[in-house]
Amino acid sequence: MTSKTRILTGITTTGTPHLGNYVGAIRPAIAASRDADAESFYFLADYHALIKCDDPARIQRSTLEIAASWLACGLDPGKVYFYRQSDIREIPELTWLLTCVTAKGLLNRAHAYKAATDANREKGEDADAGVTAGLYMYPVLMAADILIFNANKVPVGRDQVQHIEMARDIGQRFNHLYGGEYFVLPEAAIEENVATLPGLDGRKMSKSYDNTIPLWLPAKELRKAVLGIVTNSLAPGEAKNPDDSNIFSIYQAFANAQETAAMRQAFADGIGWGDAKQKLFERLDAELAPMREKYDTLIAKPAEIESILHAGAARARALAGPFLDKLRHAAGLRDLRSAAEAEAKSVARSEKPALQPVVFREADAFAFKVLDAKRNVLKTQGGFADAKAAMAAAREAMEELPAA
Ligand code: TRP
Repeated sequence: MTSKTRILTGITTTGTPHLGNYVGAIRPAIAASRDADAESFYFLADYHALIKCDDPARIQRSTLEIAASWLACGLDPGKVYFYRQSDIREIPELTWLLTCVTAKGLLNRAHAYKAATDANREKGEDADAGVTAGLYMYPVLMAADILIFNANKVPVGRDQVQHIEMARDIGQRFNHLYGGEYFVLPEAAIEENVATLPGLDGRKMSKSYDNTIPLWLPAKELRKAVLGIVTNSLAPGEAKNPDDSNIFSIYQAFANAQETAAMRQAFADGIGWGDAKQKLFERLDAELAPMREKYDTLIAKPAEIESILHAGAARARALAGPFLDKLRHAAGLRDLRSAAEAEAKSVARSEKPALQPVVFREADAFAFKVLDAKRNVLKTQGGFADAKAAMAAAREAMEELPAA
């Protein structure tokens, strides 16, 4: 039905939106959603939130705040698919189908899981201490989010690129196993020209550094927060380097070219930090105040947000439901009355070459073997530096093997 590019991204509902989220994710995503050639899917990743947060009230509050934020910033829920992950029952169901085709070794290599186990080992604890199976399965859930809607492009931060690659791997594996082009293989879209904002202490603005400026602070508090951003100790009248200034970086992310040039000049002319901060506050407030008003109205009406999300979920499920039926059928979860048909198909299938590559570790190198449908080993070769190289060689070998 559609040849539009599908753009999809999820926002984990554990925190309160801050200026960095606005500049880095909300604003560019809403701009992209206005592109007529794109079809956008933006969702509140509340199943993902459960992985890092066991405080139910916080998850509920964060879901409300993030939904209200996106709407207040101008997301049009009639033009995009805007929904809550946990309203899409097809997502956990697909997660299981994908779990069963995902190599455990792939998940062992996921950064988030590795970071947790590495930290445990460093402390001399059991590698898996405090690690839930949810953290381990995180990439599969994320693959289901993406694959259920056959997204083409997934805008994410660099830390998430590995997850998109895993989604490709998993989707490809399903396609290969069940012999069809069921899933589109997604690509990560890294926004190169989106600013990363410095936080109050000059490091990247991030909840994990506790250095954020919340997006919807009342004007007075916003001003106070801006005054608290660290600067160097140059006095008024001394020329300042804008390219080395947190105040300037944040200003630039909100100002147009002309305003930015004027601020650059003011830095060269030795603007005092107090004045520069006041100007930054005014620029921020000019952009945020009208949206803040909408936000405050929305947040006071959770029922309205709830019904917007319900409508979004209904539209999204109209796509996900029939697609999942097809995937269930592909995997063999079928109406029993269709058994005869299935048998006919499986005979047809076994006549086709069904080669399967298997990568394994051998001493301190990697090796592959290629199996046929009866699991006879057709070829094996070792001495590869890593699993990826072994898999690539296996695929090549499969090309060369005669059709069984
Ligand atoms: N894991 C992502 C994050 O922490 C959020 C997310 C969940 C997501 N599912 C997704 C992003 C699917 C893109 C696509 O940022």
